[in-house]
Amino acid sequence: FMVDKGNHRHFMEKEIYEQPEIISHALSHYIDFASHTVKANDTAIDFGGVSGLAISACGTAYLSGLVGKYWFERYARLPVEIDVASEFRYRELPLSPSQAALFISQSGETADTLASLRYCKDQGLKIGAVVNVRESTIARESDAIFPILAGPEIGVASTKAFTCQLAVLAALSIGAGRARGTVTAGDEKAMVKHLAEMPRIMSRVLNDIQPQIEALSRDLSRFKDVLYLGRGTSFPLALEGALKLKEISYIHAEGYAAGELKHGPIALIDENMPVIVIAPHDRFFEKTVSNMQEVAARGGRIIFITDEKGAAASKLPTMATITLPNVDEIIAPMIFSLPIQLLAYHTAVFMGTDVDQPRNLAKSVTVE
Ligand code: G6P
Repeated sequence: FMVDKGNHRHFMEKEIYEQPEIISHALSHYIDFASHTVKANDTAIDFGGVSGLAISACGTAYLSGLVGKYWFERYARLPVEIDVASEFRYRELPLSPSQAALFISQSGETADTLASLRYCKDQGLKIGAVVNVRESTIARESDAIFPILAGPEIGVASTKAFTCQLAVLAALSIGAGRARGTVTAGDEKAMVKHLAEMPRIMSRVLNDIQPQIEALSRDLSRFKDVLYLGRGTSFPLALEGALKLKEISYIHAEGYAAGELKHGPIALIDENMPVIVIAPHDRFFEKTVSNMQEVAARGGRIIFITDEKGAAASKLPTMATITLPNVDEIIAPMIFSLPIQLLAYHTAVFMGTDVDQPRNLAKSVTVE
C-alpha cells in the first residue's frame, strides 16, 4: 500500500515525528496501562528459566540490541552475548540449549542476521525475533515473535524502528526481571509508569528542541569529523548518533565509549572536531563530565546533550547544550535518541544530501 510523507519534507522527518504515537501503540502490546504491569507475551521463550541470552543484529538494530544488553543484565541479571551478525555467524560461539537467542531486524530479511539465527537454531536454542515485518523470514523461522509495531519505515536511516525496538526490549527486560525475581512488583510498576509517560515526553521534546537543533546543524555542517561519546546505555546511543550522522550527512563521525577517550581518540581533539557528549544526569554523569573536561582542556568544542540536572551541574563551556527534561533511566535512551536523530536529519538537509535515499546504502541487505 501507499505511504506518503504528509506535510513533511522527507520520510525520515515524518518517521521521527511519528514516534510518540507509534511508540504508544507499540507499548500497548507489551504493557498493561491500567495495572502498570508487563503483559505475558509470546511465551515460547521462558526468560525466567534461561541461563543467558545471545543477541545478534546489523546496523541500527544491533545498536538497539546493545542497549538491550545493558537492560537484560541490569534488570534481569541475565548475561548477554551480543555481536554484529556478520561476526556472530562465523565466531563459532559456544552456546547451550539452556540459553535463548534474540534477533533484531526491522525488515526481518537481513542475510547475516538470518544466518546467525540458523546457527543458534542448530545449537538448540529457543529463538525470538524482534521484527517490524511479521511475515518476514526471520519471524517465520523463530519460536517467538516480538513485533515492534512501528509501521512501514521508508527512510533508509532507521529512526522509529530503533526507538520501537528499544521500547520492546525495555518491556522484555522488565518482564524477564519479574520472571527471574530480580525486579519486584513495585519496581515493575514504577518502570512501567515511566514507559507509559514516555510518548507524551517525546512529543514535548520533539517540539521543544527542534529550533535549537536546526540552528546547531548549520554550524555542525561546517565540520569534517565529529566524535560522539557516551557511557552506559548512552554508549550505544553515541554509536547510533555517529552512524546516523555519517549515513545521511556523509560527515565522518565516530562513536566511542566515553571512558575510551584517553585510549585513542583524545589524540584527535582540536577545534576542528566537535565532540558530542550524551550524558543524562545518571550514575555515570560525573565520570562522563571528567571526560568532557579532558576535551575542553585540549581546546575541543563540546555539544552537550544532557538533562536539566546535568545542565545545572556542569559549568564547562560548550558550543551548544541541548537540555532535555529529567527522565527515569529506563526511558532515557528513547528520549535521548530524539536529538541525535534530529541533529543528523537537519545537518543532512542543510548539506543538501538525499536524506531518504543516502548514496550506497540499502534499506535492507539480503546478501552477505
Ligand atoms: C541496513 C539499513 C539499516 C539497518 C540495517 C539492518 O544497513 O540501512 O538502517 O539498521 O540494514 O536492517 P534490519 O532490517 O535487519 O533491521
